[in-house]
Amino acid sequence: MLRKPYIIHTPEEIARIRVAAAAAAHAREQIASAVEAGMSTKELDMIAGAIIRDLGGVPTFLGYCGYPGNICISVNDEVVHGIGRPDRIILKGDVVSVDVGVTLGGAVGDTAKTVYVGDDEPPGDVQRLLEGTRLSLEAGIKAAKAGNCMQDLSRAVEKVAVAHGLGVVREYVGHGCGIHLHEPPEVPNFATRSRGVKLLPGMVLCIEPMMNLGTHRIYVEDDQWTVRTGDGKKSAHFEHMVLITEDQTEVLTKW
Ligand code: MF3
Ligand code: CO
Ligand code: CO
Repeated sequence: MLRKPYIIHTPEEIARIRVAAAAAAHAREQIASAVEAGMSTKELDMIAGAIIRDLGGVPTFLGYCGYPGNICISVNDEVVHGIGRPDRIILKGDVVSVDVGVTLGGAVGDTAKTVYVGDDEPPGDVQRLLEGTRLSLEAGIKAAKAGNCMQDLSRAVEKVAVAHGLGVVREYVGHGCGIHLHEPPEVPNFATRSRGVKLLPGMVLCIEPMMNLGTHRIYVEDDQWTVRTGDGKKSAHFEHMVLITEDQTEVLTKW
C-alpha cells in the first residue's frame, strides 16, 4: 500500500500540537542560553533533559530509532544528530546547534537553532553561515502558504542559501510533524525536479535548513549518528514548525 503523501491534522490535534511546539520552543531557548564554553556536550544534554521534563514533556529523540541522547547537539563541522559526550568540551569560537524534540499531551514539537559561543562578534564567515541559514528558513516560511507547492518552499530556501555562498545539505530534509516526529511529506532544502505536494490548511511542517560554509557533501561518523561536513568546515541548522492555514501561515516555535 502506498504511504499517504501528507497529513492534514484535525483542529483537536492542532490544539495539542500547538502546546507541544510551544514547549519545544521554550526548551530550545533555555537550552541555547545554557550553552557555555568549558562545558561538555554531555553536560548540556543532561541539562536539556531536565529542562524538557520540567516543562512536563518527554525528550522525543531519546530512544527514537535507538538514539541515545535527550537532544541533538552538533558542534562546528557536525551538521546534525550529534550526541552529547563527556569528552567533547565546548570552546569559545564554536558554533553549537541544539535540536530539541518535546513530546507532550500526545503531540510532538521539534525545533533547532545554532548559536555562536563567545563574547565578541563571530568572524565574518561564521556570521554569513548563521545569517544565511536563518534567512533561508525565513524565506521557506514565507513560501509555506496554502496553494503553493512544496517545490516553491524548497526553492525559496535554496535560493537564499546559495546567495550567501553556502553548501546546501541534500541527504537530510525537513518533514511533516505533529502527532509523530516524522510524518509525510518530506521538506527538502533544495528545488526538486517535481512540484511536490500542494500545501494545504492543516498541514504542520518542520522546515529545517542544514547549510555548510564549504562543500554540501556530508558523511556519517562511525557512531552511526553524527553527520559531518565532508571538508571539516562549519555547518548550521535552524528549524521551525509551521502550521499552514487558509490565510497566514503560523510559526508554532517562535524564537
Ligand atoms: N530533530 C531531528 C529532526 O529535526 C530528528 C532527530 S532524530 C534523532 O528531524 F534520533 F536523531 F534524534
Ligand atoms: Co529537529
Ligand atoms: Co525536524
